[in-house]
Amino acid sequence: MAYTKNTELPSDRRGIAGVVNKSQDQSEKHLWASRRTRKFGRVSRQRLLVWLLSLAVIFSICFVYFGVKMHFHGTASLKNVKEESNVNNVAELPRKPRRQRFFPCEVQFLDSVSYIREPEDNTKFAHFSLGYVEREVRTFLNETIEARFGGHQTLKDREKAYHATNQTIHCGFVRGSDVIPSTGFDLDEKDKKYMNTCRVVVSSCIFGSSDFLRRPTSKVISEFSKKNVCFVMFVDKQSFHKLSAEGNVPDDSGNIGLWKIVVVKNLPFEDLRKTGKVPKFLSHRLFPSSRYSIWLDSKLRLNADPMLIIEYFLWRAGSEYAISNHYARHCVWEEVLQNKRLNKYNHSAIDEQFYFYQSDGLTKYDSSDPKIPLPSFVPEGSFIVRAHTAMSNLFSCLWFNEVDRFTSRDQLSFAYTYLKLQRLNPDKPFYLNMFKDCERRAITKLFHHRTDT
Ligand SMILES: *[C@@H]1O[C@H](CO)[C@@H](O)[C@H](O)[C@H]1NC(C)=O
Ligand SMILES: *[C@@H]1O[C@H](CO)[C@@H](O)[C@H](O)[C@H]1NC(C)=O
Ligand SMILES: *[C@@H]1O[C@H](CO)[C@@H](O)[C@H](O)[C@H]1NC(C)=O
Repeated sequence: MAYTKNTELPSDRRGIAGVVNKSQDQSEKHLWASRRTRKFGRVSRQRLLVWLLSLAVIFSICFVYFGVKMHFHGTASLKNVKEESNVNNVAELPRKPRRQRFFPCEVQFLDSVSYIREPEDNTKFAHFSLGYVEREVRTFLNETIEARFGGHQTLKDREKAYHATNQTIHCGFVRGSDVIPSTGFDLDEKDKKYMNTCRVVVSSCIFGSSDFLRRPTSKVISEFSKKNVCFVMFVDKQSFHKLSAEGNVPDDSGNIGLWKIVVVKNLPFEDLRKTGKVPKFLSHRLFPSSRYSIWLDSKLRLNADPMLIIEYFLWRAGSEYAISNHYARHCVWEEVLQNKRLNKYNHSAIDEQFYFYQSDGLTKYDSSDPKIPLPSFVPEGSFIVRAHTAMSNLFSCLWFNEVDRFTSRDQLSFAYTYLKLQRLNPDKPFYLNMFKDCERRAITKLFHHRTDT
């Protein structure tokens, strides 16, 4: 498994374990720390109260930060201690005492994009070539059977797809008959042409007007990235009109700020969350020339330079896929309970998926296992960084297919998909960097969805 194999890497390469338990051994002079304090999300009617509360919060944060810094300065893992300390000290914060608050932690980005270079030697990443099912020709299927965006993958196809070899697999964008080829996610030819040129992509989506438009923080984004990175926001027509009505009208080149607005017509699924998984998982298909991509949910504002993000989470970590762990839950069993408790999805559909996974080897997360293949079995998937390598693309397709087959709750299928992929390909490690949620918080700012406010 990648996790154990990583320890065999040359010492200048940091494996997953190194990323998870990051020590402060890097030369500080090249690095800078980025910390952001959380602001209040809501505006109270009484200004005075807000001011007083703000002061109290700032004081608490300063207290936690400096207090911990003084007490634990010089220990091996200041960051770990700080994170735990923050979690334990939330009771000290005023307001909403029952809701835990989580804080960002330092991310040691380089201080400029000027000197970053893509590592030349990436031969350790598995090489094989993937083809994608473009159109389904199945003589045994009745012609009246409806074409689906995800295709009609049999369980046998599914099993085979988990093997990291030259093969053609289902990965969305399966077209229908000659007469009605579209199965959804239709894009303008002009947008497609633009997307074909992208080498590095930051993307997000708003379907069903779920969120406001959050522009990336322009002042932290380098001129290099502004020129060379595509920032693409996928929206459906409804969201497009809503944004326009609110004064967010794209300029002549189709941009609102850094975001290039791309309207998606004919959504492939009734479930808008499922539709959102298309740009989330399939950026290698939407941007066929791209080599790197960063995904962020529309509830997040990007607060760091994309090239520095790629350097930190992929190049420096020697990984091909980076995703953060969940801030509170590590076990899929807990995640299933939580999904039911909050009524996130049809319970019997969740059970169906979960029993299927258990019967195919999914076990509980065991933190006492020193060979645990992942720091957590539950991801916080709102922010993903990836290199479009063969293994990374395969994983993205497999994860998408799980979401397509079962529920759109992708936290439920992440560990299963990863573990199965590694189990079936013991000689082809998948270099996954599961980083800490507090790092995600440092580079993205969280806002409420529209419906929450
Ligand atoms: C897989 O495909 C590549 C070209 O895409 C080829 O060079 C390689 O030999 C193939 N491997 C096998 C095992 O067929
Ligand atoms: C195919 O569809 C036709 C009409 O919809 C139906 O009469 C026929 O039984 C179907 N055949 C199969 C093999 O399902
Ligand atoms: C819930 O899921 C089950 C199994 O997938 C399905 O049979 C049922 O119709 C679903 N119920 C609703 C209300 O969607």
